[in-house]
Parts: sequence; C-alpha cells; structure tokens
Amino acid sequence: KHDYGENFGEIHGILLYKDFIECWNDVEAFQARPDDLVIAAYPKSGTTWLTEIVYMIYKDGDVEKCKEDAIFNRVPHLECRAKEILNGVKQLKEMKSPRMTTTHLPPQLLPASFWEKRCKMIYICRNAKDVAVSYYYFCLMVTIHPDPGSFPEFVDKFMQGQVPYGSWYDHVKSWWEKNEDPRVLFMFYEDMKEDIRKEVMKLMQFLGRKSSEELVDKIIKHTSFQEMKNNPSTNYTMMPEEIMNQKVSPFMRKGISGDWKNHFTLALNERFDIHYEQQMKGSTLKLRTEI
Ligand code: PPS
Repeated sequence: KHDYGENFGEIHGILLYKDFIECWNDVEAFQARPDDLVIAAYPKSGTTWLTEIVYMIYKDGDVEKCKEDAIFNRVPHLECRAKEILNGVKQLKEMKSPRMTTTHLPPQLLPASFWEKRCKMIYICRNAKDVAVSYYYFCLMVTIHPDPGSFPEFVDKFMQGQVPYGSWYDHVKSWWEKNEDPRVLFMFYEDMKEDIRKEVMKLMQFLGRKSSEELVDKIIKHTSFQEMKNNPSTNYTMMPEEIMNQKVSPFMRKGISGDWKNHFTLALNERFDIHYEQQMKGSTLKLRTEI
C-alpha cells in the first residue's frame, strides 16, 4: 500500500495521480490515427528535450512555429489531467494530423489503438541514477507530491517502484522488448548528450525526413539546454505556479549526465548497484552511468 496520500491511487498496480486515474476510460478508449507519433519515456528521462527536437523536425526548423504555444499544448501528454488546465485526450481529439503525443505509460498500458494502427513510437531512456536525482527535485517542485523526504529516503521508494509510474526497471525493460518492432525507436539520453548531431540524424531518418546540415544545426541550437531553459514555451514557466513551483527547483534544472555523483553517497551507491543488478538481470539493456 502506498503512503502518498489522497491525491494518488493505483492503476494496474502502478502508482499514479488520482486525477489521471479518474479519466482512465478515456485513455483506454483513445482512438489513434496511423500518422500519430508517440514519444514515450519514464518520467525525467528527457521527454521534453526529445519532444522539442521532434517538433522542430516536423516544422522543418521553423523556430517561430515552435514558440507559438507551451510545449504541453503543442504536444499533449496523453494521460494527463490537471484541473481545467490540462486534458491530454481532449487536446489530442481536437488536434489536426499529424499529431504527436507524449506519455510516461509502460507499453502494456498504452491504449491498444496505437499498436493496432501501427503508429511510430520513440522511447527515450536515461540511466536510473540520474533519473532518480531529477525525479527527486521534481517531487519537491510539483506541488501535488507529498514531501519526498531526504534523498536516500526517496531513492528507497524509487527502488521499490513506489513513485508515480511505478518501477523504472520494469518500465525500461518492457519498452526495450518493443525495440525489435521497426515502428519503435529506442533512444538514450546519454547518447544525445554525447553526440547530438548523430542522434538528430537518426531521428530524421526514422521519421523519413531529409536532413541538411543547415537544418540539423538549427535544430541543435534551438534545443540546447540553455536555449530551452530560456524559452518560455519549453521551460514550463507557462505552467501555473500552483502546479509547478519553480522557485523550489527549475524544470530545466541541470541537463547533464552524471549529476548522481553529487547526490549518491558511497553506501547508497553500493546498495543501489546491488539492487540494480538483481532487477536488470537477464536483460540485454545496458545503460551508461559513467559519463
Ligand atoms: S518530465 O517532467 O518527466 O516530462 O521530464 P523530462 O522532460 O522527461 O526530463 C527532464 C530532465 O531533462 C532535462 N532536459 C534536458 N537535458 C539536456 N538538454 C536539454 N535540452 C534538456 N531539456 C530538458 C531536464 O533538465 C531534466 O533533467 P535534470 O537532470 O533534472 O536537469
């Protein structure tokens, strides 16, 4: 049983926001269109970064079009429901094709229609330790979450899957299994940090778009951490403060790989590594934490 309080519940064994669970019927019944694109990730894995890159690709590098509205309106979050402000399913229904949606759902909870219509999907994965760090600050800053306690206390919950969207380990493993499907592209945050040009070209190829050096340059510039941090349409400052209090911690926090080294003590790291080995045993998915 979770101890997250009344704003949280469970759906198919996964801890989630009550508001999201209440509109679950709409999510399950969602009708995909064949040219929909799904951007999937466990929370805090680079969803926003990847989304802005793909949006730039869709708009042929037109920066003005990318600044027309907040990212969470241009690309609705499928299962999201927050008061009168956000309703992913409703936003998507009203949207012209080709639509793009983000989701943090594991593959088995994604509306069946996306699989039936053979929609393209891009999954982004980030190493567990950096995700835990980023998630900790997110829980401090997004007001619906109860106090996450100390960082080691939060990491314990993360290891047990007692965080919204459940176990990171199950999430990445089950999406990794979908990697054999040619309609699914599996990306890594660490690869993007290391060689963004290569990863942007990979995305363009997957989406069937012609790339030019000029266009790729433009995309890289517009989606750099600093640009996105300063851009009101991507930095979530358009999200009401009652939902996201960025005075506590900015949404665009650090945008680096390896910040876990500033947060994990040696003892915590050892405990995490042992548990990690157990959880990931048998999986061919390999993540890099050393960069
Ligand atoms: S969410 O709330 O789950 O959708 O968050 P998500 O977008 O998946 O992840 C947020 C983290 O991604 C970092 N970020 C970036 N890193 C590098 N480059 C760019 N352009 C970029 N944009 C966002 C963001 O800073 C969060 O990571 P941390 O480690 O907290 O900084």
